[in-house]
Amino acid sequence: MTMIVEQVFSMMGGSGENSYAKNSRLQEKAVIMTKPLVEEAVREICKTLPEKLVVADLGCSSGPNTLLLLSQIINTVDEYCCSLSRQKPEIQFYLNDLPDNDFNTMFQLSVQYQKKFREEKGDKYEPFYVVGSPGSFYKRLFPSKSVQLFHSSYSLMWLSQVPKGLKDEAFDHFNRTAIYINNESSSILSHLYLEQFKTDFSDFLKSRSKELISGGSMILSFLGRSDIQSSGELIYLWGLLAEALSAMVSEGLVEEDKLKDFNLPIYAPLMEEVRSIITMEGSFHLKQAQSFESNWDPFDESYENFVEDKSSSGRNVAKYIRAVVGPLAASHFGDDILEDLFSRYAKNVSRHMYNGKPKYTVFILVLKLKGEVQAHRGCK
Ligand SMILES: C[S@@+](CC[C@H](N)C(=O)[O-])C[C@H]1O[C@@H](n2cnc3c(N)ncnc32)[C@H](O)[C@@H]1O
Repeated sequence: MTMIVEQVFSMMGGSGENSYAKNSRLQEKAVIMTKPLVEEAVREICKTLPEKLVVADLGCSSGPNTLLLLSQIINTVDEYCCSLSRQKPEIQFYLNDLPDNDFNTMFQLSVQYQKKFREEKGDKYEPFYVVGSPGSFYKRLFPSKSVQLFHSSYSLMWLSQVPKGLKDEAFDHFNRTAIYINNESSSILSHLYLEQFKTDFSDFLKSRSKELISGGSMILSFLGRSDIQSSGELIYLWGLLAEALSAMVSEGLVEEDKLKDFNLPIYAPLMEEVRSIITMEGSFHLKQAQSFESNWDPFDESYENFVEDKSSSGRNVAKYIRAVVGPLAASHFGDDILEDLFSRYAKNVSRHMYNGKPKYTVFILVLKLKGEVQAHRGCK
């Protein structure tokens, strides 16, 4: 059966040891990298003297990163409006994610954050309004022309579904051992993933183009891949998880049919693929496009190409990946395999690190509605 992400996907909720809230430092890096772009977009919107500023974070999850974005926006509004002695717009912040997201934890975090902000700002404190908005960002989420700034970080690589066709008999051998494109899989399989990404990303652009107010911006960061020759680092990230699952099948701890039926709904596109979809869909201009590399281990800040403590780095990666795909794996294989699965995975990741330091490629895009700006030439 084709997995429909909207019905089953969420990060690990709550605020415990294995929660996404406690394991989202990796994704925080993207929010820090996009800060100057967010500030520029907010200043541009404030120039038009809006009475309110409506921002939506798409795929906010249940962790602190969305609040970091919120603080970037509030501080920019404060600084900009104070420097020009202008009235500040009221800020409305929509938190979007899939219905299974732990919105309760998110709301609790946002109330604690509001309290902290009120204490810090004293007399200068202006209330801001946080609203939950459950639903898939591949569909319409907001009324027409109602949002000035869309932000989405580390979310758009997740597809709306595992590509249809992956369950065909032709992929039987692949499905017995793999959960994502790998070095041995056929180009037809990669094509199926790309086609799903094209459909999803086009739907995303179409929906947002209706909802964005003229003059507004959309700032997106998501995983991509830089090398046209290879399928990128994600094939190893997920290949090592598939290896752990296969070993558990051989030991009779996981049913073979369960593994056969498990594929990840994720795709890391090339920048050329992203550009071509934006052009084909036709609503947006790509104002800026950048990319950066991030070590798999969220605690590894070094630029060296070797990992010193491979065991501890492997455990760090496994903990972060568990916070992201743990709930999906638990809903498919059962909760009871998680400890064993991610402990095997940590060892596989450590072993992989003998080949050098693995990195993610992260794309950052700034988009404006077509007709509002000339495309920025010469961007990477
Ligand atoms: C890795 S988390 C990133 C969370 C947050 N933006 C951050 O930077 O920490 C990805 C989030 O995207 C959400 N997501 C995936 N597909 C989605 C969709 N179609 N619509 C809305 N949210 C989605 C997931 O539920 C998850 O919470």
